[in-house]
Amino acid sequence: MKVVVCITGASGVCYAKRLLEVLREKGIKTSLIVSESGKKIIEHELDVDINHLIDLSHEYYENNDFFSPLASGSHIFHSVVVVPCSMKTLSAVANGYSNNLICRVCDVAIKEGRKLILMPREMPLSSIHLENMLKLSKLGVVIMPPIPAFYGRPKSVEDIVDFVVGRVLDNLGISNNLFKRWGDI
Ligand SMILES: Cc1cc2nc3c(=O)[nH]c(=O)nc-3n(C[C@H](O)[C@H](O)[C@H](O)COP(=O)(O)O)c2cc1C
Repeated sequence: MKVVVCITGASGVCYAKRLLEVLREKGIKTSLIVSESGKKIIEHELDVDINHLIDLSHEYYENNDFFSPLASGSHIFHSVVVVPCSMKTLSAVANGYSNNLICRVCDVAIKEGRKLILMPREMPLSSIHLENMLKLSKLGVVIMPPIPAFYGRPKSVEDIVDFVVGRVLDNLGISNNLFKRWGDI
């Protein structure tokens, strides 16, 4: 099983770091792509640099590398997670505008009927953002904004991050105990 993790230039790159950590702990292979804006936000929001995230992944591709295997539907991967997903990348994916490897691998996932999860982050959301999300949802794309629940009484930012990442793993079909589930509380 190979999961493609894409980091774009929205706030919340901590979710990608945690997702890469957990997938590595579980022995699940990951490919990592980071947009230019995503690289800058990693520097701003995390205590680690991009090399740390590259080390957590099994393979890394530059966002302009259309010769990457990920650019072709003939290359097998299980799923793509764009975490966090900027409104610009959301728009490009919704319109099939594959001008970088992240948008291309999302395009491939849609055309091949593979799992695609987007974690859009913006507030407030405009009608353009909402229409793009609705269009993608109707195509089978899973829209998972990082909206935490508070019934588990989170004690830290890490608890909140783990809730969001745990729900992404649930959606990928990967068992996890990252958060307190309703019914177990
Ligand atoms: C510090 C910072 C935070 C940003 N946060 C967001 C955000 O939360 N959501 C968003 O859609 N764009 C955000 N942006 C703007 C995007 O980075 C910008 O639209 C960029 O073109 C996205 O390109 P990409 O999708 O290729 O990474 C932010 C930019 C900066 C510098």
